[in-house]
Amino acid sequence: MIKPHGSDVLTPLFVEDTYRRAKLMAEADTLPSLLLNSAAAANAVMLGAGYFTPLRGYMNIADAVSVAETMKTRNGLFWPVPCLNRTHAIKSIKSAKRIALRDPNVAGQSVLAIQDVEAIEEISEKQLNRITEKIFGTLDQAHPGVATFMTLGKYVISGPIQVLNFSYFEKDFPATFRTAVQIPNEIQAKGWETVVAFQTRNPMHRAHEELCKMAKDAVNADGILIHMLLGKLKKGDIPADVRDAAIRKMVELYFPENTVMITGYGFDMLYAGPREAVLHAVFRQNAGCTHLIVGRDHAGVGNYYGPFEAQEIFDTIPEDALLIQIFKADNTAYSKKLNKVVMMRDAPDHTPDDFVNLSGTRVREMLAQGKALPEEFARPEVAEILMRYYQSEDAAITG
Ligand code: ADX
Repeated sequence: MIKPHGSDVLTPLFVEDTYRRAKLMAEADTLPSLLLNSAAAANAVMLGAGYFTPLRGYMNIADAVSVAETMKTRNGLFWPVPCLNRTHAIKSIKSAKRIALRDPNVAGQSVLAIQDVEAIEEISEKQLNRITEKIFGTLDQAHPGVATFMTLGKYVISGPIQVLNFSYFEKDFPATFRTAVQIPNEIQAKGWETVVAFQTRNPMHRAHEELCKMAKDAVNADGILIHMLLGKLKKGDIPADVRDAAIRKMVELYFPENTVMITGYGFDMLYAGPREAVLHAVFRQNAGCTHLIVGRDHAGVGNYYGPFEAQEIFDTIPEDALLIQIFKADNTAYSKKLNKVVMMRDAPDHTPDDFVNLSGTRVREMLAQGKALPEEFARPEVAEILMRYYQSEDAAITG
């Protein structure tokens, strides 16, 4: 089994022991409490689930700056995106040594974790701009990740945490949510050695499906880990429950049995393109995968990143930074000439007109108008699930 990142063993911060957890829950009631923002809550879930091994909690400003500038913490750990707990107001926790972190995403805002407060620092505008620019490559407020990141608060609360639950993810996605402890165990139980991970925040269209199959063949993998993001998305993205249903249907009908694990993780989308791709690699290594697929505009949004920037960043990091390998996929589309989905680099004789290439926006428009998606783009059973969603009231609200 591939080793976790920066550690011989996984370091999930979820308190496994029921008795200890109950004691900590009781203690939490006596502590000053802080209502987290969704980004900090998502960090806690990832820390709890072992995906952020070997981090022990939230970073301070010096580490955040170091990670942003050099992709390393001050003590030399390779890490691509700061793991922060930021807030606007610290009145309730001033001079506290230990605080209860409340979950903004569940009814009643129950306690998600307990933090030992090492420091509460105020971040300057200059520092925040610098970090934002290094992580997202832009300060443009029209970028959904930047818009969120810039408004998370000027106080940075650093220190180790103990995690008491996995927020809404276990309850809302019981069949799909997995920790980085569970996935390697399942991989081992299947007897798989080479596992290729597929990151997604979308329902899987034909290009995604074939990308997974091509990657599995190319690296001679025993299986594919479909690992979908279950957290918050920008307006217009398809919600996780709809996507989950679409993916399950596609796998059931179009993949050989026992070659795919359908799983998800509890994190909000950053839309940070290349930096997020590196973070994706870190936590897939922690989940026991040997390879990660990185295709066109991975974790991107709009035109902020070049189509293959999220692949190129892996050529700039130290060779020993990660153990997981990256399967770099070219643009994948349906070839009208060959009547199948291909990677464009494998069809050098094609002109752009030989491919069916639908943009996400065009697909959304078609679905909203109740028009069937072409079979070259989506499996009919997948298209049907998406169409039902687009014609529901939910789509009108989130779309
Ligand atoms: S992401 O934000 O989670 O990266 P998405 O779910 O669309 O978005 O993509 C999942 C993975 O498939 C990413 O690695 C992405 O680069 C890749 N991908 C999606 N569509 C294509 C395509 N047509 N050609 C090549 N790679 C693609």
